[in-house]
Amino acid sequence: MKTYEAKILGTGMYAPKKVVTNVDLEKIVDTTDQWIFERTGIKERHISSTEGGEFPTDMALAATKDALVAANLQPNDIDFIIFASVTPDVKLPNSACILQVKLGITNNCACLDISVACSGFVYGLNLANSMIKTGLAKTVLVVGSEMLSRVVNWKDRNTCILFGDGCGVAIIGRAEEGSESKVLAGILNSDGTGGEFFSQPIGGAVTPTTAAHIENDEQFMQMKGKEMFKVATRTLAENGKKCLELAGLPLSAVDWVIPHQANIRIIETTANILGIEMDKVIVNIHKYGNTSAATCPIAFHEAVMEGKIKRGDLVLFDAFGAGLTAGAALIRY
Ligand code: UT7
Repeated sequence: MKTYEAKILGTGMYAPKKVVTNVDLEKIVDTTDQWIFERTGIKERHISSTEGGEFPTDMALAATKDALVAANLQPNDIDFIIFASVTPDVKLPNSACILQVKLGITNNCACLDISVACSGFVYGLNLANSMIKTGLAKTVLVVGSEMLSRVVNWKDRNTCILFGDGCGVAIIGRAEEGSESKVLAGILNSDGTGGEFFSQPIGGAVTPTTAAHIENDEQFMQMKGKEMFKVATRTLAENGKKCLELAGLPLSAVDWVIPHQANIRIIETTANILGIEMDKVIVNIHKYGNTSAATCPIAFHEAVMEGKIKRGDLVLFDAFGAGLTAGAALIRY
């Protein structure tokens, strides 16, 4: 069977217009700008309008339009959409199908939603690579888009200070024969035994939301921050190392690491365990907080736009999330 290489053709992002600073949060929960910044690295986050226009597929539409221009492609060139989100517009139909219509795609492309929380983009990138390799797809739109403000308990200072809304996308396509730019290696894994560390138990088939849940604010996400922190640093470092081993490349060859942006202390600890200097690590958590599946593609897109990441650079994506899910991908951009 003939196989192909995959590469990133273009990227885009969307951040909601409304910015909520730590000082704004001081007015709604018992916290301080100083505590949030020192413990998480976050200064502000973007929050979607509830009036419309900034729901997950709206943000994805705006981001994809830019990615299509960057990739010099038309919507109908996309033959597979992978939409990673834990906050889809609606439960049915899936967000990828909604986005297909918004983009005006008429080629009946395959539409897949994936629910792997903050690892969503890295899962999507690895899936896209595999599908392009085998010829199942030629041009895959990978989306990470979240409106976490809908599932955050704004009375819970343990979680509400951490999250934000936003979207990042990448169009992955077939690399020309002999191309230096390609996805070099990937790794995906999960440990379901840690599911209780970060969950939203109310609102599914087992326990549909009732008026009593809403009265007691039980319908929101719940997180055991300390447990997540420990697993995160270990998993990110292990997957980062394994991914490089798979590609047969040393850490010294890496130009940039794009870690999931959950907490600056997680990022710094991981960099320390891996043994990579922080000036090779892309950090934008101060501006967006944790946007789950959107952190990696937003960080990548911004770094490309800022001229930091250039074609030919070796880039390591590394993420973990609820599930617990995790994964890494090494690309030559
Ligand atoms: O995307 C993946 C999912 N998320 C994560 O991976 C998050 C991972 N975890 C974390 O980022 C950190 O554990 C947190 C930022 C959530 C918490 O930081 P921490 O350093 O582990 O704080 P802590 O929970 O140990 O709390 C320390 C103190 C406590 O007070 P006492 O018991 O020492 O008096 C908390 O009650 O800080 C208090 N505290 C706060 N104070 C002001 C907790 N949240 C806040 C707050 N403002 N927002």
